[in-house]
Amino acid sequence: MTVARGGRLPATIDAAMERLNQSVDVDSKLWREDIDGSIAHAEGLARAGVIDASEAETLVRGLRQVAEEIQNGSFVWDPKKEDVHMNIESRLTEIVGKVGGKLHTARSRNDQVATDLRLWCRRQTDEVIECLAVLGEVLLDRADEQIDVLMPTYTHLQRAQPSRLSHHLMAWQEMLWRDRCRLVDARARLNESPLGAGAVAGSGYPLDRDGVARALGFDRPMQNSIDATASRDFAMELTSALAILGVHLSRIGEEIVLWSTVEFGFMTLSDAFSTSSSMMPQKKNPDVAELVRGKSARLMGSAMSLLALEKSLSFGYGRDLQEDKAPVFDAFESALLSLRALTGAIATARFNTSALEQALARGHVCATDLADYLVLEGVPFRDAHHIVGALVREAELRSVQLGELPQDVLGAHHSALAGPGVQSALDPRQAVERRALVGGPAKARVEGAIRDARVRWANGTR
Ligand code: ARG
Repeated sequence: MTVARGGRLPATIDAAMERLNQSVDVDSKLWREDIDGSIAHAEGLARAGVIDASEAETLVRGLRQVAEEIQNGSFVWDPKKEDVHMNIESRLTEIVGKVGGKLHTARSRNDQVATDLRLWCRRQTDEVIECLAVLGEVLLDRADEQIDVLMPTYTHLQRAQPSRLSHHLMAWQEMLWRDRCRLVDARARLNESPLGAGAVAGSGYPLDRDGVARALGFDRPMQNSIDATASRDFAMELTSALAILGVHLSRIGEEIVLWSTVEFGFMTLSDAFSTSSSMMPQKKNPDVAELVRGKSARLMGSAMSLLALEKSLSFGYGRDLQEDKAPVFDAFESALLSLRALTGAIATARFNTSALEQALARGHVCATDLADYLVLEGVPFRDAHHIVGALVREAELRSVQLGELPQDVLGAHHSALAGPGVQSALDPRQAVERRALVGGPAKARVEGAIRDARVRWANGTR
């Protein structure tokens, strides 16, 4: 089956080709940016003397009416008109008449779509940055509130050294701060205007590219018309930054899953962020954390799709680029949803203080501290490591903890271990306080880190 069309190819288009060609079901999301871009372009055309001021006014009025119709739901999207740009222009021409045909002077859908997508990504990036700030603040609040709660740190998921819950929550926060910085950097790079680049080689009209760029909040016009229409590294960069963010949220999700198990018991999610089982009546599942882990796969997929899409594209525009929108849209939707849900889950979760602190009681988490105690007594660290290792072995054989070994056993391994300082070396609270260096878990240090981070998140400065 075929359908009719006009111009250079007046006859017909194959129905499968028509379906392949159309993108309005996806790119109608860009309507707001498309209309903003068209208004800026129309006003720019008038400033350049290409159309009359009154014609520009008519176009702008018509475009505002189209926006109104889309917003109130009366606009009818027609797949036969291919994409968001043609749908809007065609309705504009119905509203304002023949002058509607002047809007596309000195413009191509190539610079138009590049502009729309940059504007859309900019708005969404700002939203992600805002959501990240909310999550950052929630983590800082929880870190503040839990400041006195101790817990073990882990390496290889084995108990390692004592720390405090706040120190751990602040680790999450640090990682998210860098995600924010990556997005801020990418946003600065994307904020240039393609308009005026036309299809590929610009335009012979004396267009006011600077004025149009400014009107759309761009820092400047893009410096090369071929690059402006053919390049989508801003999309690759943003989806890559979102993929990294997704991986980070997934790691937090993984810890929430672990911490919510009976085995760990460190954390209880609120009912609002938990789900049940259709069969097992006792179940309270951490689906929020698992779904966030799952969404990270989609985020990685979006970045990969864009990389693959562009790797063999010659300059300038190639129609392949039409396929850039779905991954970009999906990435932002997944990131925003994950951020919002995880923020709520963390804000409303209960930390099980006694389970966290009890986890310090086993696993010999102060073994390093005992070695350090021997170092202070003049023993070289390698020897101290060896001595304490042997003591841990001894303790394991007796099924006790290091501190429970009889004094004579300790003394037999090294005379300094018979002294009274051993118990304070093995006390987790003192061990944490000793780690008062930059980046460490001592109370004052973590309190300082929380204070600094609050300023950073609030001001958006590094
Ligand atoms: N829908 C197209 C896209 O998303 C708009 C640009 C079409 N340009 C063209 N020369 N056919 O890329």
